[in-house]
Amino acid sequence: MNVSSTEGLFAKLAAHNSLDKLNAALDAGEAVLPPSSLYAYAAIDAGFPFVDFTPSTGARLPALEELAIERGVPHAGSDGKTGETLVKTALAPMFLSRNLRVRSWAGLNLLGGGDGLSLSEPNRAAAKLESKARSLDEALGYETDHPVHIDYLEDMGQWKTAWNHISFEGFMGTSMKMQFTWEGCDSALAAPLVIDLARLTSLAHSSGKSGALPELAFFFKDPAGTEEHRLSHQFHQLVTWAGQLTKRA
Ligand SMILES: NC(=O)c1ccc[n+]([C@@H]2O[C@H](COP(=O)([O-])OP(=O)(O)OC[C@H]3O[C@@H](n4cnc5c(N)ncnc54)[C@H](O)[C@@H]3O)[C@@H](O)[C@H]2O)c1
Repeated sequence: MNVSSTEGLFAKLAAHNSLDKLNAALDAGEAVLPPSSLYAYAAIDAGFPFVDFTPSTGARLPALEELAIERGVPHAGSDGKTGETLVKTALAPMFLSRNLRVRSWAGLNLLGGGDGLSLSEPNRAAAKLESKARSLDEALGYETDHPVHIDYLEDMGQWKTAWNHISFEGFMGTSMKMQFTWEGCDSALAAPLVIDLARLTSLAHSSGKSGALPELAFFFKDPAGTEEHRLSHQFHQLVTWAGQLTKRA
């Protein structure tokens, strides 16, 4: 379970495209993997499932997918969905199904703790913002203007405040707005997800699953192996899948 600090964006390299190429580069001593992917490689190679709760690269490389299939090991990620994005992916389908067109969706985040401090570095923040950005357009099915901003405020400690401003259009182009403020305790939101992910991934492993587990999308901002971001759909998929695995176990 990777819950270490968010890494900066890591360049895509040819060595990531296949296991043979990756092994050749590693054997030649080339630094082709960030720490999160080295951890993923080590875990999968040793026959253990790997879960990435961070937006770092982790197991999200074709070469590591190949390794996971070869070793018969499942993996899941990326980036736990515990706050602002959780609310966004619950609300976006409502706007979509009511045909209320979202014109813009802006988010401002104040964050304390070690994560807030890490994300005050621009390259690490870029990795987090990239992961946060993906869900909205995919949940709505069209592109919107949706800037997200994160500020570190030491005084917040484990707490996070996210303020979102949504501008949308109704019947005959009538312009309307919605705003919400989320005030969450990061650790209390993340801990039960980490425990559930460990249990579900272990169940998947003992049921013979390997490679990315898209059915765990419910837990992630940037889920591996699927573009499904709508929270209620993700929950339905999760419950159906877990029910099938439990019946088999
Ligand atoms: N609600 C949440 O807490 C939440 C939600 C989604 C994602 N995340 C992600 O989970 C990660 C951890 O969040 P946090 O709030 O616990 O951060 P944190 O800064 O409090 O803890 C991160 C820890 O990782 C350690 N670390 C850094 N590099 C490491 C490495 N290479 N190997 C092993 N350990 C290393 C640090 O020393 C630190 O102790 C972050 O990437 C964050 O974005 C957290």
